[in-house]
Amino acid sequence: RSIISSRLSHSISKVIPGLRTKAIVNPEHQANWHYSSPSAIQIFNQNKKKSGVLPDSLDSCHKIATEISADLMNDNNVFEKVELAQLGRGPSEKSPFFMNFFLKTSCIEEVIKKTIAEEVSFSTEPSKILIDFSSPNIAKNMHVGHLRSTIIGDSISRVLEFTGNDVQRINHIGDWGTQFGMLITHLDSAFPNYLDEVPSIDDLQSFYQEAKRKFDQDPKFQERARRAVVNLQKGEQKEISAWKVICKISKVQYDNIYKRLDIKIKDVGESFYNDMIPSIISDLERKKIIVESDGCKCIFVKNDEIPLIIRKSDGGYTYDSTDLAAINYRFNQLGVDKIIYLTDIGQRDHFTKIFKAAHMSGIYDPKVQTATHLGLGLMRGDDGGKIKSRSGESVKLNELLDEATFRAKEILLERQNLPNTHNDLEKVDINDIAEKIAMNSIKYFDLKQSRASSYKFSYDRMLDTKGNTGVYITYMYARICSIIRRCYPKDSNLEDSVSRIREEFLLSPSLLSLQTPEEISLCLAIARFYESIEDTLIDYQLSKICDNLYNISVKFAEFYQTNKVLNHENQTSRLIILLAAKLTMERQMELLGMKSIENI
Ligand code: ARG
Repeated sequence: RSIISSRLSHSISKVIPGLRTKAIVNPEHQANWHYSSPSAIQIFNQNKKKSGVLPDSLDSCHKIATEISADLMNDNNVFEKVELAQLGRGPSEKSPFFMNFFLKTSCIEEVIKKTIAEEVSFSTEPSKILIDFSSPNIAKNMHVGHLRSTIIGDSISRVLEFTGNDVQRINHIGDWGTQFGMLITHLDSAFPNYLDEVPSIDDLQSFYQEAKRKFDQDPKFQERARRAVVNLQKGEQKEISAWKVICKISKVQYDNIYKRLDIKIKDVGESFYNDMIPSIISDLERKKIIVESDGCKCIFVKNDEIPLIIRKSDGGYTYDSTDLAAINYRFNQLGVDKIIYLTDIGQRDHFTKIFKAAHMSGIYDPKVQTATHLGLGLMRGDDGGKIKSRSGESVKLNELLDEATFRAKEILLERQNLPNTHNDLEKVDINDIAEKIAMNSIKYFDLKQSRASSYKFSYDRMLDTKGNTGVYITYMYARICSIIRRCYPKDSNLEDSVSRIREEFLLSPSLLSLQTPEEISLCLAIARFYESIEDTLIDYQLSKICDNLYNISVKFAEFYQTNKVLNHENQTSRLIILLAAKLTMERQMELLGMKSIENI
């Protein structure tokens, strides 16, 4: 757990009872202090409603800040000193009042020791959490909009698992609905042998468009399609088989994308909930929650004129019906404590209504269970519009992955030709590395953005080897590995070196001795790992882990510029620091769904 922020909150609430505060530590290591918190006044303002206590003058502010630091210094193994400092020209009532903290070196060393011993664990109460993410629609291509949900949902699952929760990853595939009438009918006429041999349709999107064109133009086709829907809903053998074939073709395509992105997720599509809908409807009719409007069965929720439509006038069910059945099943059959949904931000209203309706219907109790929708911003092309492929059409997901891999390979080849670059590229499979770097970069570029905002996608910015990118981080990690690998006689490998450093250090912790400012900066960045996880858990902004990961990479680069490692008198101590950096980065990359590559 992060020592500094919890220790600080503790002292503050002691001095001002009832005041709880977090996020007051400025994580940027400035030259003159290790941590800094904003003005005392700011701290109190944050919580003024709750506490009602406000320092009214500089004097009382100073007094309170002094008490806080006295308390911090009282019983501590953490702080070397706490300074009160004022910014600006001369003391004035308004100028910000900072508390600057200096950690004890022994405290920083302790964190490094815990990192290397892999001793730290999270004490959060474990929950049963279901994450509904990715969720493409059958027969429509999985598009870049689903990419964000896939990447972010996967990473949130990893973080929640890492912090001790029981996580279920669910793919709520759009595999049901009236569009299947025309798809089945089109399949039947275009591939009459579909039952004996699954047709190879690489482009289901055009298959869908073709079916739609026939549906719009040909009244006979339309009639057949209508009948197919009715039969499908009745569960007739023929239509069910055709439907399964279409789902299978689709699944092969998106499973390929999951494989490239290393995503584990369980398919539980909309169709799964279909049979549960009628009994929910009759239950909610009994509870007088459902009302009839224009022949539809609707649920009106508070402060919203537009209802959920649970059954259309033609008797069909909707996206709303399925989600109501799904939330009921998840809370009451699966018994989860928490559901997190990830979709584009446009579906916010839909989920607000579903949650309110579920609450009204007694499906869940928001006091003890939570349902959260995390809305995602869009991923746009460089011109603000859709992301285009080379041929100028809007890009398909696998094309985007291919293009990124192609460019990553170019970068690798270019680097290989540079004089003076130390690399072991001949020994490794360049296509494999290019694919890994590409996936790392796509994921990192997405995860570092603020979740709810839209951002512009750009291959160049995403693959900038000197920027805040997945490639840069991947390279820095590999460089650390290469230093560690070379530290012992030539024949040793990375794994042996790692265990040797670890064993030596754990036997005699005094081998670590922090001396230079670069060493301390790097260690402080490492020490903030747990803080970044705690912060991520507050609002599921994975950018906090990205920032910390990037920070470690940058601090390593600065360290390595001026601090020699191999054959230096502090070699052992520095190797210990590098090992802690390696282990932390590896963990962070794993949490972000990135692959750590030791050998580039
Ligand atoms: N299939 C939907 C889409 O592509 C997303 C489903 C999200 N999950 C849910 N339970 N509604 O927009």
